[in-house]
Amino acid sequence: MIVAEHLVKEFRLTERKPGLAGSLATLFTREHRVVRAVDGVSFTIPAGAKTAYIGANGAGKSTTIKMLTGIMTPTSGRCLVRGIEPYRHRQANARGIGVVFGQRSQLWWDLSVPDSFRILRRVYDIPDAVYRRNLALYRELLDIDALGTTPVRQLSLGQRMRAEIAASLLHDPAVVFWDEPTIGLDMVLKDAVRQLVNRVHAELGTTVVLTSHDIADIAAICDSALVVDRGRVVHQGSIRDLLRTADRRSVVFDHRGRPDPGPVRAEIERGLPGVSASSAEDGRIRVDYPADRFTSRQVLGFLLDRFDLADCYAPEPDLEDVLRRIYGGHREAPSTGVPGGGEEGAA
Ligand SMILES: Nc1ncnc2c1ncn2[C@@H]1O[C@H](COP(=O)(O)OP(=O)(O)OP(=O)(O)O)[C@@H](O)[C@H]1O
Ligand SMILES: [Mg+2]
Repeated sequence: MIVAEHLVKEFRLTERKPGLAGSLATLFTREHRVVRAVDGVSFTIPAGAKTAYIGANGAGKSTTIKMLTGIMTPTSGRCLVRGIEPYRHRQANARGIGVVFGQRSQLWWDLSVPDSFRILRRVYDIPDAVYRRNLALYRELLDIDALGTTPVRQLSLGQRMRAEIAASLLHDPAVVFWDEPTIGLDMVLKDAVRQLVNRVHAELGTTVVLTSHDIADIAAICDSALVVDRGRVVHQGSIRDLLRTADRRSVVFDHRGRPDPGPVRAEIERGLPGVSASSAEDGRIRVDYPADRFTSRQVLGFLLDRFDLADCYAPEPDLEDVLRRIYGGHREAPSTGVPGGGEEGAA
């Protein structure tokens, strides 16, 4: 459904020298540096999946989404969205997709939201029943009528994002690309947006590609994950598989008949070097172990041998911890040059 094959995007930047003299010199000299924002990325996203496109700031997510939505042309490689190469057939691609760029408006700045919707209805030739159903949904979940007839330019960030999200779904697209759609939304609206996309997906089987730095968005919406690091794919699979890559796992247990947890914790840490035991809620004990040194079977075996376990469970690893490790120390330096060499900018 969505395929990327060795997708590369480079930006050619003119080096900027420090200071005012340097800025002036930049006008006359032509020293170029190439930033490889997307470095040979290949992936397949099946129809109907809700995929989190995950990566640290500067990892190349927005650049990839711009190629998938036809805004940018790859330097090399190619991508296909529903069989269409987006940057070659922008119009045909646009019919089947919905897009939100949290950082940048897709709406007409001078028009009100109802006027924008009327135009979109014409542009996409949206059937009456679809238009009415979707407006009812936006009324229910996004309180869209409250935006009134204010021009988009005068809306607050959160108000504009509600309109952007609604606009991206208005024509029942087969695929939605949402790049940081919950920026500026309060907790209640974030929740509503998550509900909205899940309802649309349940009804229409919409393919969802989402980037968000809010882990709760990912947890509430996505079933699979595509993780990029420095322009490359480092993980593709279910969120569950991603969690399995955690380097630390835990077991929490309730120990009957040993009211003093101190000696229990000490015994565990002595018996399993590298493991840490701490107090958890309701007098339980939490055991954190490195996944590369112990299996859950070894840890559980040790605990069962020594203690009378009344209750025992393995909490899911924390997605945030997993991502922190993947992102850790891998920050891209921002591009400090000025775009040059005829390369298109953010379009
Ligand atoms: N128009 C451009 N001209 C030059 N460099 C660019 C341009 N757009 C992006 N870049 C560079 O490409 C890299 C990837 O940027 P991109 O916006 O795709 O990252 P991202 O993963 O979306 O990050 P974030 O999480 O901060 O939104 C960065 O190093 C950025 O500086
Ligand atoms: Mg981005």
